[in-house]
Amino acid sequence: MKVVVSLGGIFFSDAESIKKIASVLEELAKSCNLYMVTGGGEIARERIKIARDLGANEAFCDYIGIAVARINARLLISALKDAYPEPFSDYKEVAVAKAAMKGESAKIAVMGGVSPGYTTDAVAAILAEYVNADLLIDVTSVDGVYDADPRMYSDARKYDKLTPKELVALTMKEELKAGSRIVIDPVAAKIIERSGIKTIVIDGSNPRNILDAVHGKHRGTEIA
Ligand code: UTP
Repeated sequence: MKVVVSLGGIFFSDAESIKKIASVLEELAKSCNLYMVTGGGEIARERIKIARDLGANEAFCDYIGIAVARINARLLISALKDAYPEPFSDYKEVAVAKAAMKGESAKIAVMGGVSPGYTTDAVAAILAEYVNADLLIDVTSVDGVYDADPRMYSDARKYDKLTPKELVALTMKEELKAGSRIVIDPVAAKIIERSGIKTIVIDGSNPRNILDAVHGKHRGTEIA
């Protein structure tokens, strides 16, 4: 089973949190062909804000987010015993590296950001499409997709299930600026729609939720 996991930048604030996630990922890699994509989180947003205040345009700010996401990819690689030593910056290189192992290795491929105009959720969706993944898991700081940001609106309603079309309709209302605070960005939603890859959005505060999601026992939002 091929699984792509998009891991939000929030999980990279200290060594203990990264170690806990790495140990779950190593367990998962024993039975799955695992591909990881790391986000930039608050550090990316802070640095983007400074650049914007200095007059940088959105594409320039996006490159700051990409760089921070790649730093987090290096942090994850530092914590994993059997990962490719460098973060990948190209989808094709990941597929070629994995194909060279002929499925014999549990080596985990890690990517950060790739190009301006989207977030690492879209990177994960494109990677999932390119490698024909069976499952895409978006690990975030909220426990699923809501009709409004639950951190700001206490009456926000969570969706247990969404069709890709419904996800696209929801995310198209969002503003796509560098560092936008959105659960899934609209580019990711469109890729999920066109590829038809089953996607699950879960809360990563307990990393074992990732294993549960692979085994179909999640409490997040399923997009299929
Ligand atoms: P993230 O992927 O971290 O944003 O990218 P996110 O999903 O909102 O954050 P978390 O980590 O789940 O909290 C941060 C920013 O980096 C730029 C975008 O500006 C994005 O908002 N970015 C990232 C790109 O432009 N391209 C990429 O491929 C990745």
